Order: sequence, then C-alpha cells, then structure tokens
Amino acid sequence: MSTDTAREHLGGGSARHLLAISDLHRDDIEDLLELTETFVEVGRRPIPKVPALRGRTVVSLFFEDSTRTRLSFETAAKRLSADTMSFAVSSSSVNKGESVRDTIETIEAMGIDAVVVRHRSSGVPAQIAGWTNASVVNAGDGWHQHPTQALLDAYTARTHLGSLEGRHVAIVGDIKHSRVARSNIEMFTALGAEVTLVAPPTLLPSSTNAWQVNVSNDLDAVLPTLDICYVLRMQQERMTEALVPSLREYTACFGLTSERADRLRAGALIMHPGPMNRGVEIAGEVADRPNAVIIEQVANGVAVRMAVLFMLLGSGRHLSAAPSPLDASSPGDSPTADGPAGDVDVSMEDAR
Ligand code: CP
Repeated sequence: MSTDTAREHLGGGSARHLLAISDLHRDDIEDLLELTETFVEVGRRPIPKVPALRGRTVVSLFFEDSTRTRLSFETAAKRLSADTMSFAVSSSSVNKGESVRDTIETIEAMGIDAVVVRHRSSGVPAQIAGWTNASVVNAGDGWHQHPTQALLDAYTARTHLGSLEGRHVAIVGDIKHSRVARSNIEMFTALGAEVTLVAPPTLLPSSTNAWQVNVSNDLDAVLPTLDICYVLRMQQERMTEALVPSLREYTACFGLTSERADRLRAGALIMHPGPMNRGVEIAGEVADRPNAVIIEQVANGVAVRMAVLFMLLGSGRHLSAAPSPLDASSPGDSPTADGPAGDVDVSMEDAR
C-alpha cells in the first residue's frame, strides 16, 4: 500500500476507512483501545447514548451471515445517535442480479457517511472504498481480515492481563480459512505478544513466513505455557476438501477439551470469536468456565465499534474543522426522543 493510500485509512487524523489491522500503527491501536474504554463507560450509563454522530448515517451491508458483528455495529451506531440503514441481501435487488458496485452507488445516492461491509470474498471492502465517498469499515472479508474482531479481542485481553507485551498467545485451529486469525496475528504481535499457531498442517496456510509466529502441531505441549488460548471455529463452509479425517479426530487432537483446559495455568484466558461449535473445537463446559471470556468479547464489541465509527466519522478529519461532535453546545443540538443531549454527553476531553 502506498503512503498516500495508507493515509486514507484509519490513523494519523485523516482516516477514512478501516480495512485491515496492518493499516494501523501501534499508536492508532492504543488510541482506539483508549477510546473504547470511554464508550464502555457510556454503556454503563442508564441511557447508554451520546450525540456524537447525530445527523450521520451508517449502513450495514452484509453479504454474508452474521449475528455478533452486525448487531454490535448497529447498536454502536445507534448509541452514537447516528441514523442506521440495514441491508439484507436476501431481500435486496442483489437477488435480481444487481452488482456490488451498483448496490453501493444506489445506497450512496440516499446519503450515507459510513458503510460497514461483510463479504465472502477477500478484498471487497477495499474495492468498495474505491467506489464511494463514504467511510468503509471491513466487517469481515473472506479469509482476509476482520479488524474490529481483533480490536475487541485485544481490548478484552488487556482488561484481564494488562499489557500484552511478552504474553504468550496460541491461536488454535483452522488458521487457513480464518480472517480472525490473520487479524489477530497482526494485532497480538503489534502489541508485543508472542504468538504460536497450533493446527494440523492441513489447516495452516501454505506459508507462514510473512508472520512473526511460532508454529506447532502439538496443542498439549503448548497449553501450559499460555496466557491466552484463542480457539477458532472449524469453518466447514469454507472447506472445499476433507482437511481433517473427521471432526471426532480433530477434537481428539486439537479440541479444547475439559482435560486440556485443566492444564492451562491459573489466570490464562480462553477466547473464541464465535459462533462456537460446542463439542468440536471447544467443549461446552469449557466455554462456560470463569476464565472463558467469550461473552465479554461480544459485549466489548459494541464499545470497540463505537470507537471505530467515532474515530472515522466523529473526529479525525472533522476534529479540527468543526465543533466537537460530543459537545452538547454544538450548533443544532436539541432535545431528542432519548432525552436532552446534555444528559448523556461527554466532552472531547472525556472521550480521549
Ligand atoms: N465473530 C463474528 O464475526 O461473529 P458473527 O459472524 O456472528 O458476526
């Protein structure tokens, strides 16, 4: 990516898009995680809403199934007082043959500020970024990237472990097909953690040389050394061939069973991006243990996505040019159906 193109992405105060973790400098990640803390606090208020993005419109454009990401982006946009539009492929003109480009140009004609995109093909959010003046947020593209998942994972891990510098993280399972793995390898290494990929050879990419990671095929040997055991879903919908002899055999060798979870050291976290295949990559009982933070990951997803939308639409480009969008005295503020803006406001100083 050229410097000019990178400057178009999140970071450096002139951000337009969030497409990949590699677009972020360490400082950008730290800023987003710090901003997330503010929005976690907003989420604890009786009325968990601020007027930061009033008058802005955020569109969810999901060409692939989602529960967590879609609902948390929509919740995040609403908690920032943005207007939201939701695009359901199953009931759209995509089913009549409309292209992605025509779809985005049609939606843009209605007036939008940000589009949150999930697509089964890698690179579609980047393509869309070239077709629209709106900010584009990658909500998961093929095997490529899922940057907000990595941000919420880093935030969740740090709330328990503090700094991730020197911590040992294993990412276990179907690395080959996983955008979560690709985003989290970049995220955890950027934050100073040591990352070990644990998988059978058939579920690893053809090369891991581009990453600063260890690779192991022996989960039992790695487990006692971990601070985080990050378990991936077996993505059978992306497997075009039989990559493991059977799910039963995969579970026997790579599943986080109760016996294996018992061998994690005290304080080690169990993480999973969801949706889980209980009984396959993780035992149902293990997913419900106190050191499994899977539901916390989901909860933190709302605040992380508020931080991303705010960074792209509420500050950055607009910060020096306009009054603070979090400032209740900004021109145009008025009481809303949710109550007076001032009741739920935070100042820019609060937000940083
Ligand atoms: N982790 C994740 O992306 O979940 P969804 O597919 O439900 O959004």
